[in-house]
Amino acid sequence: MTAVPGGGFLRGLDGDGHFTPPIKRHSLGKITLHNQYAAIFSRATKNSWPQRAYIGLYSGAGRARVEPSGEIIETTAMSVFRLSDPFTHHIFVDNDARCIEALGERIRSMGGDHDVSLIQKDVEDSVQDIKRALPAYSSRNRLLSLCFIDPFSAALDFQVIKQLGSALRMDFLILLMSGVDIRKNFRRYLEDESDNRIARLIDDPLWRKEWAERGLRKTDLIRFVLRKFDTAMTHLGYQAQLPEESHPVRVYGKGVFLYSLVLYSKDPLGKKLWSAARAATDPQTNLRI
Ligand SMILES: C[S@@+](CC[C@H](N)C(=O)[O-])C[C@H]1O[C@@H](n2cnc3c(N)ncnc32)[C@H](O)[C@@H]1O
Repeated sequence: MTAVPGGGFLRGLDGDGHFTPPIKRHSLGKITLHNQYAAIFSRATKNSWPQRAYIGLYSGAGRARVEPSGEIIETTAMSVFRLSDPFTHHIFVDNDARCIEALGERIRSMGGDHDVSLIQKDVEDSVQDIKRALPAYSSRNRLLSLCFIDPFSAALDFQVIKQLGSALRMDFLILLMSGVDIRKNFRRYLEDESDNRIARLIDDPLWRKEWAERGLRKTDLIRFVLRKFDTAMTHLGYQAQLPEESHPVRVYGKGVFLYSLVLYSKDPLGKKLWSAARAATDPQTNLRI
């Protein structure tokens, strides 16, 4: 198996006959930072945590075809197997059977002896499966998990994070779709009271009241969502994050804000590792690919 140091990932691959969904160029920045953080996290924790589980929610197929170049690359779900200090357990959730099947085939053909659970389900319905797939742990054989949450939209149910993060020692790297989905569709989310997408994401069914009382405007939107999400995380015992600690990803060549990557840990070490990962990631590849 080819090990790939730091935030790297395999690219320029030939087709392998398995499902290979398209991705946009800006996703390469996300993959780079994810891989860099996973590498730093795994290296920093391997001596104190005998069991380290990686959980990929909305995992994808492990490979993707970059638009418009057509280049085939390995995505996050495969990259975690190529770390110099690999995780001891791997759990992937995706509701698309084609993704789960292709990912399984790719992991098998990579060789090696990996502890892998593939769960084909909606993320919202997968918490019990994830808990069952995690290894048994004790004060002697402790378990630390890193959960990467990578949805297409802001339709992320905070209850998933709540159920996993309150019961287990788990750090979260989360893609918050605050640019594309929320900004684009905000008028609808604000005016249609039956729409609960933002309420579910920030764990606050009364967010419209606060929005109105504070006289907020659309330009306040991204900070508002980040702050409300942050509050929800701190209620679970996670360290608060400053807005500048979230990592913006923009459209290639245009500078239009798309989404934020945010890192949450209950341990102050998490912030240090996140800041090291951001610093180590080449801004050329990170923001503007
Ligand atoms: C942004 S892509 C994932 C990209 C991948 N993590 C990577 O590193 O390139 C989102 C994935 O979420 C899956 N998906 C969408 N809605 C889902 C849901 N409700 N539950 C589980 N998977 C879902 C899609 O099939 C798709 O593979």
